[in-house]
Amino acid sequence: MRLTKTALLFCACSSVRAYVWPSPYDLLEDQYTVSSGFGDGGIVDGVDPCSLGPIGGRIPGRQAAAEWLRLAYHDTATHDIETGLGGLDASIGFETGRQQNVGRGMNDSLVFFGAFQSRNSSMADVIALSVILAIKNCGGPSIPFRAGRIDAESAGPETVPEPQQDLESHASSFAHQGFNVTEMIGLVACGHTMGGVHQVDFPFTVQNAISSSNPDGMAHFDDSFDSFDNHIATQWIDGTTANPLATGFNTTTNSDARIFAADGNKTMRAFAQNPNLFSAQCGSLLERMLNTVPRTVQLSEVIEPLPLKPYQLSLNMASNGSLMLSGYIRIFGTSVEAAAATPAAMPVSLNWKDRNGQTNVAYSTSAAAVSQTSASLWGSVRFFEINVAIDAYLGISSFVVDWAYSSQLPLTHSDNGGDGFPLQDVILNVPEKSCKDFSQHTVTVYGVIRTDMGPISNPYVDYNSNVNQEGNIVVKQVTTRAALARVDGSASPLYDTYSATFTDGGQFTDEGVVTLDLVVDAGGKRYVSAKNPEIFRNCRVPVVR
Ligand code: HEM
Ligand SMILES: *[C@@H]1O[C@H](CO)[C@@H](O)[C@H](O)[C@H]1NC(C)=O
Ligand SMILES: *[C@@H]1O[C@H](CO)[C@@H](O)[C@H](O)[C@H]1NC(C)=O
Ligand SMILES: *[C@@H]1O[C@H](CO)[C@@H](O)[C@H](O)[C@H]1NC(C)=O
Ligand SMILES: *[C@@H]1O[C@H](CO)[C@@H](O)[C@H](O)[C@H]1NC(C)=O
Ligand SMILES: *[C@@H]1O[C@H](CO)[C@@H](O)[C@H](O)[C@H]1NC(C)=O
Ligand SMILES: *[C@@H]1O[C@H](CO)[C@@H](O)[C@H](O)[C@H]1NC(C)=O
Repeated sequence: MRLTKTALLFCACSSVRAYVWPSPYDLLEDQYTVSSGFGDGGIVDGVDPCSLGPIGGRIPGRQAAAEWLRLAYHDTATHDIETGLGGLDASIGFETGRQQNVGRGMNDSLVFFGAFQSRNSSMADVIALSVILAIKNCGGPSIPFRAGRIDAESAGPETVPEPQQDLESHASSFAHQGFNVTEMIGLVACGHTMGGVHQVDFPFTVQNAISSSNPDGMAHFDDSFDSFDNHIATQWIDGTTANPLATGFNTTTNSDARIFAADGNKTMRAFAQNPNLFSAQCGSLLERMLNTVPRTVQLSEVIEPLPLKPYQLSLNMASNGSLMLSGYIRIFGTSVEAAAATPAAMPVSLNWKDRNGQTNVAYSTSAAAVSQTSASLWGSVRFFEINVAIDAYLGISSFVVDWAYSSQLPLTHSDNGGDGFPLQDVILNVPEKSCKDFSQHTVTVYGVIRTDMGPISNPYVDYNSNVNQEGNIVVKQVTTRAALARVDGSASPLYDTYSATFTDGGQFTDEGVVTLDLVVDAGGKRYVSAKNPEIFRNCRVPVVR
C-alpha cells in the first residue's frame, strides 16, 4: 500500500517539469547513467565489484560500497526534524575527527568523491548519487535520485548513534532524524547488510580478527557482505548470525541485537521471510535517508537517464572561420530493441536550424557509432559521434535527432521536450588558445564573440574551480569572474577574439571538475557558452598548429 502511494507520488513529481538539456545537473545525470566504457561517469568504478576495497590501496577487509553507505548515514544523522537543520549536506567532511566517525573509510570516500564535484554537483549530491549507484551495483533496489543538496560550511552536531548506547537513546536519535522505531530497525538492517566492523576502530567489539590478509580486522555483519540481500535478517532470525553488533563478545556494544528485537523481531522476521519486501523497504527508507536535507534545501525532481542527450558537445571555430559542431549523442533505452541493437547499424542523424530558426535539407549530418561500448546500471546506452562544419553566416540555433535501433524500425524524433536542443553561436570558447601559467598561477581564457548582434556589453568568463578548506579533506567549488576584453579579429569576419587573464592566487587545487562559462550581453540578450572543459595547456609551451 505504502509503496504504491510512493510510486504514484514520484510519477506526479517527475511529470511536473521534464528534464531538458542543458541542465545544471547534466554532469550528475551523466554519472548516474553511464557506469563503464565510453563516457564512463566514473563513480561505479569505485565499487565494482561490490566487494572492492577503497581506491589508493585495495585493502583486504575493506569495502568501498559499505564505506560510502556508512558515510551517507553519518552525514544524514546530523538532521534535526524540529529545527530543520542538518542532514545530507556534506558536513561530514568537517566531522571526520570525531570518535563517532572513526575509520579511514570517511576520508578515503570523500577524496574519491572529490573528483566529481562541479559547479552544480555539490559534494552532498555526489554522496547521495554514490550510495544509489553502489547499492544498485551490489544487487539492491533502484533508489530514485534527486539533486540540489547544498554543502554545509561547517560541522553539524555530534548526533551519530554509537553501539554502546542503549535502545532508548537510539530510538531518540532516529526520532530526531525523522524515523520511528520500525523505520530505525529497517534502516539499520538495510545499512548492515553490507560491510562490517573493523577491529582497529572498534577493539571493544571485535577481537582476534586481525591477520595479514585482514589487516584492519574486518568482521562482517552477515555471510554475504558484498550483496545487498536480506541475509542480515535471515541469519538473525535463524540464529546463525555472526554480526559483531548482535552476538559480539561485548554485550554493551550489541546495539543491532537490541534494535532488531525492539519490536519483538516483527520487522526482521518479515525481512527474513521476504527478500523482495526487504529490498523494497530498504529502497524507500534509504531514499528518505538520502533526501533528509536541511529544510531550506529544495531538491530537484527525480533525475532519470534521458533517452537522448548530447555529451561533451561543443561549438567552436575552425581555422578557416567555419563553425564546427563536435561531440557525441548518447542514446539510452530499457526496451528489448535497445538491448539487442547493433550501434553501427543504427541510423542516427542530427538536423539543425540556422541562427534564424530555419531548417534546410542541407542542415543535416549523420552520427557514427562510437566503437568503444558503454554500460549503464539502468538499461542500454550507446554513443554516436558528431563532427560537422557549419557556415558561420548561417549559424545554428538548435537541433533535433532522428534515430532508430535498426533501419527496419521507424525513426524516433528526439526534440528535447519540444523545442529542440538549444545552441547559441554568439559567444564561443577557443580552447586551443587558452592556457595556464603554472608558475605565475594565472589562467588565460580566449573566446570569440559575434560582431553582428548589436551592442556588446559585459563579456566575462566564470572559471569554476576548487580550493582546499580548513579542517576538511573535501575541496570547495569557487567561481572566479574575469572580464573579457577584445584583443583581435578572428578567422571569421563575423567574430572578434576576446581574452581574459586572471590569477588563482595559488589556491586552486587539481581536484574536482573545473569548468568555464563564457558570457556576453549582445543586442540586449544574454548568451552563455557553458560548462567548457578544463584548460591543461601550458602558456609557456607554444601552440602547435
Ligand atoms: C544505532 C544505529 C547504528 C549504529 C550504532 C551503528 C554502528 C556501526 C558500527 C560500530 C560500525 C562499524 C564501523 C567500522 O568498523 O568501520 C558500522 C558499520 C556500518 N554501518 Fe552502522 N550503525 C548504525 C546505523 C547504521 C545505518 C542506519 C546505516 C545505513 C543505512 C549504517 C551503515 C553501516 C555500514 C554500511 C557499515 C559498514 C562499514 C564498513 O564496512 O566499512 N549503520 N555501524
Ligand atoms: C548552479 O550553480 C550556480 C553557481 O553556483 C548557481 O547560481 C545556480 O543557482 C545553480 N543552479 C542550481 C539549479 O543549483
Ligand atoms: C512507523 O511508521 C510506519 C509508516 O508510517 C508505520 O507503518 C509504523 O507502524 C510506524 N511504527 C511505529 C513504531 O510507530
Ligand atoms: C565493552 O564496550 C564498552 C564500550 O565501548 C567498554 O567500555 C567495555 O570495556 C567493553 N567491555 C569489554 C569486556 O571489552
Ligand atoms: C529475536 O530474535 C533473536 C535472535 O534470533 C532471539 O534471540 C530473540 O529471543 C528474539 N526475541 C523475541 C522477542 O522474539
Ligand atoms: C573549414 O574547416 C573545416 C574543418 O577543418 C572543414 O570541415 C570545412 O569543410 C572547411 N570549410 C570550408 C568552407 O573550407
Ligand atoms: C581526515 O582529513 C582531515 C582533513 O585533512 C583531517 O583533519 C582528519 O584528521 C582526517 N581524518 C582521519 C581519520 O584521517
